[in-house]
Amino acid sequence: MSDNQETSDAEDTTPSGSATLPLRPPCERLSGHKSSVCSRSYFVVVMVFFHVYIINVIALLFYVHYNSGQEDANQSRDAPSGDHQSRESRRPPSKPEFLRDVSLTRIEGIRVGHVQKVSLVPNKVHEMRTLSLKPLLFEIPGFLSEDECRVVMQLAQLKGLMESQLMVQEGQEELAKELNLSPEEIFNLLDINQDAQLQLHEILTHSRVRDGIWLTPENLREIYTGLKADKDGDGLLSLEEFKLLSNDAFQRFLLQRGVKRSQLVRNSRHTWLYQGKGAHQVLQDIKERVTRLTRLPPALVDLSEPLQVVRYEEGGHYHAHHDSGPVYPETACTHTRLAANTSTPFETSCRYITVLFYLNSVEGGGETAFPVADNRTYDEVCLIQNDVDLLDTRRNCDKSNLKVKPTKGTAVFWYNYLSDGRGWVGEQDEYALHGGCVVTRGTKWVANKWINIDPDYQRQARYQQLVSQHPEDEDDEGLTLNPDIQSSDIHQDL
Ligand code: OGA
Ligand code: CA
Ligand code: CA
Ligand code: FE2
Repeated sequence: MSDNQETSDAEDTTPSGSATLPLRPPCERLSGHKSSVCSRSYFVVVMVFFHVYIINVIALLFYVHYNSGQEDANQSRDAPSGDHQSRESRRPPSKPEFLRDVSLTRIEGIRVGHVQKVSLVPNKVHEMRTLSLKPLLFEIPGFLSEDECRVVMQLAQLKGLMESQLMVQEGQEELAKELNLSPEEIFNLLDINQDAQLQLHEILTHSRVRDGIWLTPENLREIYTGLKADKDGDGLLSLEEFKLLSNDAFQRFLLQRGVKRSQLVRNSRHTWLYQGKGAHQVLQDIKERVTRLTRLPPALVDLSEPLQVVRYEEGGHYHAHHDSGPVYPETACTHTRLAANTSTPFETSCRYITVLFYLNSVEGGGETAFPVADNRTYDEVCLIQNDVDLLDTRRNCDKSNLKVKPTKGTAVFWYNYLSDGRGWVGEQDEYALHGGCVVTRGTKWVANKWINIDPDYQRQARYQQLVSQHPEDEDDEGLTLNPDIQSSDIHQDL
């Protein structure tokens, strides 16, 4: 700033000094006292105008320079005023507007089968193979050592595993009553293609979301017969047919008949293992390795969900699902709820990445299936066609586009969201649909590490600001959204 001042002072004097010379001769040509007064006042007027003009130009230059300087400093971490900026960013902002200063690394898949070497632990090089581009999915054999797998399973057992899904999900009935929906309104909600008929898949999808019971097309036909619901026998429910059924007719029918665990969306047990300070070293090491693998700011991995450990018994499964839902403008993320300004009717877990670890090699079945991986198109309706339900991992894993065999120590990871094209989280990747095929022999142990990122950058930044203000975390460098130690120095492609 002082440099600029000096230059402008110099500019101020030089032009006026040199300008006096050419102005003098015309005055000299005029004779007498009057003319000398005239020439002097003429000279003063001209000089005043000239100076005002020069000062205006300089002021304008200063204005432009100062404004663009501010922007540069905000945009670039290398700007000369960076020190001042970082001091600023540590202060709680008076108005919570955060400039985007973080760009999320997204690993390139190149092509299916492409292998890249990655350095995740000292003295070892891992190979990371691209399994699909839609979703962007990788496999890393030997990500965990045998010992690490054993420790994670033992810690989970010590903590105790709980049923992943309760038999019947409560609360939905009350919600429907509270909303006071008429049968017509419910019918319209279910009729996705709005053809005034309920197709099998429209009912199936609904039932899975509503009470977690996994109906097959045959089950549904049985129910129709049992309840005499499809009067004209065309396999569809018209509004008239639908109106004759009571609100929870299907559910009551099923409960009367009894629901087995194998008829649920998910048949497994799980627990959660905290990975922060004080946790078992193996758990902290895994978190650190995941940070290197994904090349994301450590703070994002630190603030994500704990490690989920899942155990499937023989006969266990997990039908195809998305680990995280779509995001609409009014969707909130579970992890940043703390920082949300308003409460919203939709909430999802905002799991940007799933890292799935196989803790044992399964004797039979238990593959992870990606039914529509690298499909040319994605059509939700085509997932359940005629009697083939691609979401059903008990029956149709063999029809899945991609299946990963569980091998002890292998990790797979994929992105549940696309990029927004500006270095942040974009729309949900529908191709990331996946499930656990039925275990036909032995047991299956896996662990999930989900990395939660809010697609709303402002909300994520506000959330991190809030947690980092916690006194215990004051000296925790990892809790800023602006870590300069991003990726390059901790991860190298070899
Ligand atoms: C999950 C999951 C797949 C598998 O736990 O969310 O999709 O193979 N698991 O167990
Ligand atoms: Ca319909
Ligand atoms: Ca009918
Ligand atoms: Fe999953």
